[in-house]
Formats: sequence, C-alpha cells, structure tokens
Amino acid sequence: MPQVTELKSHPLVSHNLAILRSKDTDSQQFRRVAQRLSTLVLVAATESLKTVDRVVETPLIQTSEKVFSEEIWLVPVLRAGLAMVDVGLDLLPDAHVGFVGLFRDEETLLPQYYYKNLPDFTRHASSCFLLDPMLATGGSAVAAINLLKDHGAVDIRLLCLISAPEGLKEVFAKHPDVAIFTASIDEQLNEVGYIVPGLGDAGDRYFGS
Ligand code: PRP
Ligand code: URA
Repeated sequence: MPQVTELKSHPLVSHNLAILRSKDTDSQQFRRVAQRLSTLVLVAATESLKTVDRVVETPLIQTSEKVFSEEIWLVPVLRAGLAMVDVGLDLLPDAHVGFVGLFRDEETLLPQYYYKNLPDFTRHASSCFLLDPMLATGGSAVAAINLLKDHGAVDIRLLCLISAPEGLKEVFAKHPDVAIFTASIDEQLNEVGYIVPGLGDAGDRYFGS
C-alpha cells in the first residue's frame, strides 16, 4: 500500500522551507537549512523502524528501552543526496552508508547511471534509507530503488525534501512497497522538469556549482 508522509504542516518544517526555497539564500545557509530539514525528515522516517527491548541499569533501577534491531543503511543518490548523509550519521551513528550515482539527462530527463557501492542486503536484516532531496519525474528514485532491490533490499524508505506529485505517482506505480517521507509535496513540474515552486537545482545550490 503506497504511503507518503508530508511534514510541511509543522511550522518548523515550513519555516525552514521558506529559507531553503528563497533565491536569496546563499550556499552556506542552504547547506545548513537542508541539513536541518533532513534531520526532521529522518526523525519521521525512523519512527517505524523495528526495535527490540533492551534492559538498562540506571544509577537507580533497572528499566528497559526500545533499541533498533536491524542494520540501517543510508544510501544517498549522488550528488545532492550527500546533503542528507551527515545528519543521518549524527542521528544513527551505527548506520552504514552505500552510494548510488545518477544524474538526470537535461534533454530527456532520464536518469543516467554512473556509480554504485552497495552491499548484499540479504546478509543481514536491514532497512534502507534512500536519500535524495528532490523527487521530480521520479525516474532517478525508481532507478535507485531498482538497484537497491537488485542487491536484495526489501525494507526501503525514500527520504526527500521536495517532491512533485508526478514523481510520487511514478514511485507508487513502480514500487508501491516503498514508504516516502518528504518535507513538502509541491504543485507540479514545469515544462523543463523542474519542481514548482521548488528551489531550483538542489545539487548546484548545495555545492555552490
Ligand atoms: C536531481 C535530484 C534527483 C533528480 C530528480 O539530481 O537530486 O536525483 O534530479 O529528478 P527526477 O525525479 O526527474 O529523476 P541531478 O540529476 O540534478 O544530479 P545532481 O544531484 O548530481 O545535481
Ligand atoms: N532536480 C533538482 O535539483 N531540482 C528540480 O526542481 C528537479 C530536479
């Protein structure tokens, strides 16, 4: 059953989206705000991870807390997905990191594959967080999820900052089992495949290129 969680109704998310979207935000501030928003999306996406109870001795008494029970993999889609990795490792210091390299052909809007570094996910029970701030046509996300599944991933969450309805529809159609977490669902794509209102080119703004 397709599942999308949009976080924009929270004013902390909306406040930071206002800064991220503004054409007057420079790369330094763009990086800070993209990371802050990524933290909020990551918190939402970790809520449904599998846990086990662990007994803990406090200085006063024995108690128990829930701790994650499966390997967690953070998989950024290069380049822009790198924006979400460091905050992921801050929140989940035991997580592992894999990589998928894709860029969108500006004419055809089709994803072009150039790199992967992924494990055999069948070796351990694991959850995969696919990280990409922008979900536009959905071509890149579908290609990246195909790669994750080719490597045995089963439990996959897609984490974005801005998503277009067209991209959500495409991911739902090809991978209805993947849960999507996004700060905002925007209005639509424009005639050259950019998300509107969007924020422009996330990779260029993040890396100052
Ligand atoms: C952006 C973005 C996604 C892709 C989304 O990457 O980070 O990977 O576009 O578009 P889609 O949903 O239509 O496939 P881009 O191709 O600009 O590469 P970059 O991150 O290296 O800048
Ligand atoms: N990739 C981006 O970085 N921005 C868009 O609006 C669409 C794809």
